[in-house]
Parts: sequence; C-alpha cells; structure tokens
Amino acid sequence: MALVAFASSKGSPGATTAALAIGALWPRPVVVAECDTAGSDIAIRMPALDGGVLDADRGLVTLAAAGRRGLRSDLLLSHTQQVIGGLDVLVGLRVPEQAAGIGNMWPQLGSIFDGLQGYDVLADLGRCGAQTPQNALMRSARLLVMVCDTEPSSVVHLRERINVLARDLDPANPHGVPIAVMVVADPKKKREAVREVFAALDQMDVPISYKWVLAWDPQGAQIFAGAVTGRPDRTALVRSARQVAGDLSRAVAPFFVPADQPYDAWPQQEAEGEWHMQVEPQPWQQPHLAESEGRPAGQPADSVPPPPPPPPPPEHDEAGPPTEPRHYYHAASPEDDQQGVRHD
Ligand SMILES: Nc1ncnc2c1ncn2[C@@H]1O[C@H](COP(=O)(O)OP(=O)(O)OP(=O)(O)O)[C@@H](O)[C@H]1O
Ligand SMILES: [Mg+2]
Repeated sequence: MALVAFASSKGSPGATTAALAIGALWPRPVVVAECDTAGSDIAIRMPALDGGVLDADRGLVTLAAAGRRGLRSDLLLSHTQQVIGGLDVLVGLRVPEQAAGIGNMWPQLGSIFDGLQGYDVLADLGRCGAQTPQNALMRSARLLVMVCDTEPSSVVHLRERINVLARDLDPANPHGVPIAVMVVADPKKKREAVREVFAALDQMDVPISYKWVLAWDPQGAQIFAGAVTGRPDRTALVRSARQVAGDLSRAVAPFFVPADQPYDAWPQQEAEGEWHMQVEPQPWQQPHLAESEGRPAGQPADSVPPPPPPPPPPEHDEAGPPTEPRHYYHAASPEDDQQGVRHD
C-alpha cells in the first residue's frame, strides 16, 4: 500500500524499463501499473508468465470500466497479469485514444493504487507534460521518481518540469509528495556527467529527496524488452536496479500494510508527522466512516465509492496474497550486491 510514481519530462530516458526492473526486484509484493497515455509498451514487449502473449485489452481500461460505479482497491488484482519472471503488471492503454475512457478517474486511480492492501504499486506515468491527465495520479503517490538521462537539454527540461510539478505536489511540506530523481547513465563512462546532473539538482529551490543512478546497459535492458537470456542478475542494469529497489522500498516502507492486517490497524498515526500523509484520509482508510456515512465530510454522495469489503485474495493466486515476490532476478550472489551503483 504505497504508490510510487515514475515519470519523465522529455525523450525516452528509460522510465518503463526502470519501473519493470525495480518492480522485478522489489522486496514486497508489488504491481507495476502502466499509466502512460501514449499507450502500452509492456503488452508489446513482455511475454506472459507462461511465455505466451499478454492480453493487451485487460488492464487499466478494464479496471476503469469495472470501477465506473465506484473504483475500489480490491478490484485492481482482477485486472493484472503476470509477465515472465512472475511480476504482476497492470497493462496500460492499447492505443492513446482509450485515455478518453478513463476520463476524470485518474485521481481515483491514484487513491486505489495507494490503498491496495498487501501490495505496493509502481505506476509508470510516462512523459508528463503540462496537460497530461495522468499527472493527477501523482498527488496520491508516496514518492514521485523523475527519470532522466545526462543530456544537458534533458536536465534543463527536468528542472523546469520539477519546478512546475512542485507547485502542486509541495514536496517541502510533510503533507506533500516528495520528489526523487533517477538518472539512467553508464556508471563508468558518465560518472562526471552524473555528478553534474546532481549538482544542477542541488541548486534548485525544490528539495530532491533522493538521487539515484540506474545503469545504462543495453544488454540488461533487453531483459525488460522481453529477451530474457543468460544471467539477468549479473547485468549492470539488474545490479543497479537492486540497489535502487532496496532504497526506494525502504523509503516507502512505512506505508506498506500487510494483506491480512485489518483496515483500522493501518499506520496513519504512526506515519503522520514522520513523513507526508493525505490530510483527509480516504474512505477505505476509515472503516467506521465508510460504514456509518459512506463518505468523508464535505464529499458529495454521488462521488463516493461503496464501502469497501475486506479485500479478497487475488484471483490469479488461490493460495492467497503472496508474502514474498517470486522473481528469478533475485538469484544474485552477495558479491553482485556490492557492484550496484548508487549516488546519494
Ligand atoms: N537502462 C537502460 N540501458 C539501456 N537501454 C535502455 C535502458 N532503459 C531503457 N533502455 C532502452 O531505451 C528505449 C526506451 O526505453 P523505455 O521504453 O524504458 O523508455 P521510456 O522513458 O519509458 O520511454 P517512453 O516515454 O517513450 O515510454 C528502449 O529501447 C529500452 O530498451
Ligand atoms: Mg515508457
């Protein structure tokens, strides 16, 4: 139950690849949700768990359709699929025109992703410009990760986008959404360039909570384009992604709630003040309120989803929600762990 949003400002720096790689190495159950209005790449690139083809029509669109009368977190797992390696994904739009069907549901999608008990959600928002509707999802995130490369023009655009987004996300405020930056770069050849990017970020008024490097590694990236060969755990990309996944998952750990924990045990108080929390808890975070009134004060009745039943086990796993991820990318030796790249 922690939504992490990945986005870029311009170009294709590797946001989808990063979300898949980090998701594959995530230490808790996780769903990678493709929310890029430019259309799905995962359905095209990644084989299904059984080596077949993913269903490009099952995912974000079917979830939004099923949630027309009230979008709830427990609906999400009925619309996910597993890619090779066992990672759960919510496939995005088959064509950009389908974004119209999502309409004004983006903020609700953010809320249900963040409210999914027993799972974290990594949402790939793709390129986020001034008008992209998926920006609305960021407000529900526990962390926004902006992905960029080391090109000076990319960094200029990144800084501009962060400045604009910060007006809404208010990352300096404990109730706002913190912002991190992940630079995709060759860890050896681009060391100086990465340092310059970080120096440029340090000069900003907007606080950048975390700065990471993900290895530019064409061979490793092929794994997340569906060509799984050799030893994925030995590639520079997977090694660096393991470092980032560890840091990132620890950063949002206070917001993860195990699947079998009752709603009223969710760590609102514990987390409050320690980091950011939504000022108004959502209906599914307030069972007493949802049951008695069905809506928080001030919210019109017709915009309220029905009170949430306890989340059922995911349909694709009869044994109940997984307690540990089952991805083969984890099969690294301890020495490999030492070779990842991180710049704080
Ligand atoms: N770390 C990496 N090392 C090498 N190649 C990479 C890496 N990340 C991505 N790539 C390659 O760069 C291309 C774009 O990657 P990807 O689709 O992940 O970018 P993106 O930021 O999601 O782009 P878009 O905004 O167009 O969706 C792909 O061919 C991918 O294989
Ligand atoms: Mg992408």
